[in-house]
Order: sequence, then structure tokens, then C-alpha cells
Amino acid sequence: MPAQIEAFLDPASSTYSYVVYEADGSQCAIVDPVLDYDAAGGRTATVQADRIIAFVHEHHLQVQWLLETHAHADHLSAAPYLRRELGGKIAIGQSISNVQHVFKALFNLEPQFAVDGSQFDHLFAPDESFLIGNLRATALHVPGHTPADMAYLIDDDLILVGDTLFMPDVGTARCDFPGGNAHQLYASIRKLLAFPASVRLYVCHDYPPDSRDAQCQSTVGEQRQRNVHVHDGIDEAAFVAMRTQRDAGLGMPNLLLPAIQVNVRAGHLPPAEDNGVTYLKIPLNKM
Ligand SMILES: [Fe+2]
Repeated sequence: MPAQIEAFLDPASSTYSYVVYEADGSQCAIVDPVLDYDAAGGRTATVQADRIIAFVHEHHLQVQWLLETHAHADHLSAAPYLRRELGGKIAIGQSISNVQHVFKALFNLEPQFAVDGSQFDHLFAPDESFLIGNLRATALHVPGHTPADMAYLIDDDLILVGDTLFMPDVGTARCDFPGGNAHQLYASIRKLLAFPASVRLYVCHDYPPDSRDAQCQSTVGEQRQRNVHVHDGIDEAAFVAMRTQRDAGLGMPNLLLPAIQVNVRAGHLPPAEDNGVTYLKIPLNKM
């Protein structure tokens, strides 16, 4: 039976979360779940995550994995909340330690904060195979947007591409965060586009033009034919020049500072201070 996939769009961050499963009653993986965050009020909420919980209950699924494609800079992860409610193992690529190292320094995190990825339940090695119930999956290391980006190939039939490719008319992810590298992103994208033309690609975000609604799925063939940044025929030098120039004109995502300091903790909030209150930090004039 082919893998089933359900997409959940968070309109606030333009993020797609997914549930991947074999059939009703089977095991499943939840990918890139969003914790709502109201930056003005400093409040978290679980409206988006609760939509996923309702779907999991409705289809009688057992959560085996909570997969992160990377440490996101535009939303906080709901993985710890979902693990508490539904179970499952929180997993990310093993290069997350590089990202933790950079942001531990930037945020001057507590000395005990480990930069070995141990906040996560599982760290994927590049090309590690794993199972979601009976579905075969492979964790593909696709650095470039960040050093730790992963894409998840399911059943040789679909790939959750994370922040590599966007929809063909939108292009590709930025490479200007710490540790980002446009040369690496080009190589990662060519790796994804080497799969058969019929393989379905599911994006992490869509930023659609006014002329269409948000979408989450394309194919390898469509991307090779008409991705505005990396269709066949665009070489590495041309891609890197385009990406570098575009990135120089982009502002920082609204939630970068709140999101990244939570997501390097696998989505856990920082430890409460001695008054019982949890705080996020804003480093001034550093980004
Ligand atoms: Fe991202």
C-alpha cells in the first residue's frame, strides 16, 4: 500500500506540517509540527498541533516518529507537546550539533546546555534507513539552508524536502543563516532531483504569488523542468550568484530569535528562572 500523507498548513508561518502513515490504524510519523507563538504577547498555544492530534485520533494512528527537517527559524516546534500527548521519538539530523554550537554561543545559553544533540531522542546519520510502521524511509542529508537539514524519502515514492526546494514558481530556500552555504544547497538539490521524475516532493513552506493559493506538492520532473532557481540547465555558479544576491536583500524572519533558541533544544522551552517564569532572550545587534 503506498504511503498516505496529510498536510497541515500553518498560515501564520506559511509552514506545512505532515502526517505520513500506511493506513488507518498504522504507525505514523509527524513531520515539522508547529507550536503557535504570539510574539507580541510572548504566548504559546497549540491550535496547530491540536489539529494534528485530532487527525491522529480520527485515523487511529500510533505516533512512532516526530521528525524535524531542521532547526527552523520561522516557527517554534510542537514536537515536545506532541510527544507528551501522543508518544513518538523526536529526531533530526546529527549535524544539529553544529547548529547548537553556534547558537549556544550567540544566546549565551546555560553552561549545562549540551551541544551533542542529546535533547533529541534520535539523531540520523546521512542516508540512515528507518521504518515508519512498514513504510521504508531514508534520512537524506541535504545541507545548505542550514548545516543540519534533512529530507525524508518515504517508500521510494515521496520526499519531504524540508527547506531545499520550494514550489517551482517560488524557487529555493535561503542560505544566509549561520552555517548556510549556497554551494551545498545546489548539491543537495541536485541530489533530490536525481530521483525519478514521478517522485512527489513535499515542501516545508509555500510563499505563493497572489495568482494562486498555497500548495505543498510537486514532482521531481516538474522541478527539473520549471523551478525558477534550479531547473535543468542552471549550473552551480549561476545558482550561487542568484542565491547570494537574493539573500542579501532578505530581512530576518519575524520569529528567528524566539524560534531558534527553542528549536535547538528539540522544541523544549528554556529552563524556568528562580521565579518559575520561562524567558526567551533577544541578543541585540548580533544578527
Ligand atoms: Fe528553515
